[in-house]
Amino acid sequence: MGSLANKRILLGVTGGIAAYKSADLVRRLQDAGASVRVAMTPAAMEFITPLTLQALSGNPVHTDLLDTGAEAAMGHIELARWADLLVVAPATADFMAKLVAGEADNLLLAVCLATAAPIALAPAMNQGMWRKDSTTDNLDCLRKRGFYILGPADGSQACGDIGPGRMLEPLAIVEALEPLFSTAILAGKKVVITAGPTREAIDPVRYISNHSSGKMGYALAIAAAEAGADTWLISGPTNLQPPERVTLIRVTSARDMLEATLAAITDCQLFIGSAAVADYRPKCYVDQKIKKDDSAMLLELERNPDIIATVANLPQRPLTVGFAAETSDLAAHARKKLDAKKLDAVIANDVSRSDIGFNSDNNQVLLVDREGTEELPLMGKSQLARLLISKLAGKL
Ligand code: C5P
Repeated sequence: MGSLANKRILLGVTGGIAAYKSADLVRRLQDAGASVRVAMTPAAMEFITPLTLQALSGNPVHTDLLDTGAEAAMGHIELARWADLLVVAPATADFMAKLVAGEADNLLLAVCLATAAPIALAPAMNQGMWRKDSTTDNLDCLRKRGFYILGPADGSQACGDIGPGRMLEPLAIVEALEPLFSTAILAGKKVVITAGPTREAIDPVRYISNHSSGKMGYALAIAAAEAGADTWLISGPTNLQPPERVTLIRVTSARDMLEATLAAITDCQLFIGSAAVADYRPKCYVDQKIKKDDSAMLLELERNPDIIATVANLPQRPLTVGFAAETSDLAAHARKKLDAKKLDAVIANDVSRSDIGFNSDNNQVLLVDREGTEELPLMGKSQLARLLISKLAGKL
């Protein structure tokens, strides 16, 4: 599998004759392992029907900015957060001019404006339109703003002209997208990440645990592997798929997690503790199922080891980054944790908010380190993971 495997790609289709190729592009992206949703501009629907793209993508096609039904299902902000990557193919001259102006009067423009994901454009237009100064200026501006411009190709055009402006073939677009997710910023580095909850057994059938889904830690592991790191994920029990190109070590209790972490940490340059490690475990494990009776039951608990603090105290410690799940005074609590556990950075999020944190697909965090506090925007956990990995790689 290539680097598009398991990526969430929003394919934007605008109104040009090359829109017929978008149908094939959906398939090619899926062949590369991506999960694809489609958003169309009103003009695109004059060239190809939403039904075709819905049937191919297996998802409803998004067309209306102000459709109340669609808003309830997945509005422009949810789409903007869902996507790991936006690909607009074909991208007309008009659509790109509107992007430059920051217009948002259709769903696709609004998603482009709202998203923190990278955006790739595959321009398609008549060669005369392509050569115009206004188009060249708009392209320069979009490149400067970080848009990826794929193509166009040269050759015969639907209007009978010959020249530059043909949309790249779908397979060529997929090939051009692959490198966007393999940045190699962590090539030659070893990264160890803890994720998920731990379970502390009371007896053979009962345990103490918490609501951590593991999504943030798994997203970080995927992003680290994409960035070329030798990535080790020490995971408590989760329902998540094992990420590709990651050494996954499954553990249950905090003590298992500590042991696995210490075994994996040799030669590691970056350790990220994203696990929600249970702070306490039952003092005594009863090896037969405890029988209930009518009286109250007292459970005596004792402290679990602090995994990240143990790593931070190693003589040859890696860059050590922790998480802080807080309900108030985020920055202040995170800074306290930074000092108390001798960490290099703390990623803090507000778990009192239902739209982020535990079990959510989105997150919004503060990155707190010795230099200061940076507030990152609300985004999907995979987008955020990539951003965090690139920031942490910069600290190595
Ligand atoms: O102390 P608190 O649980 O708030 O700290 C959170 C950070 O410490 C997270 O990075 C978490 O993975 C880590 N931690 C740990 N071992 C523990 C408790 C927390 O590694 N026993």
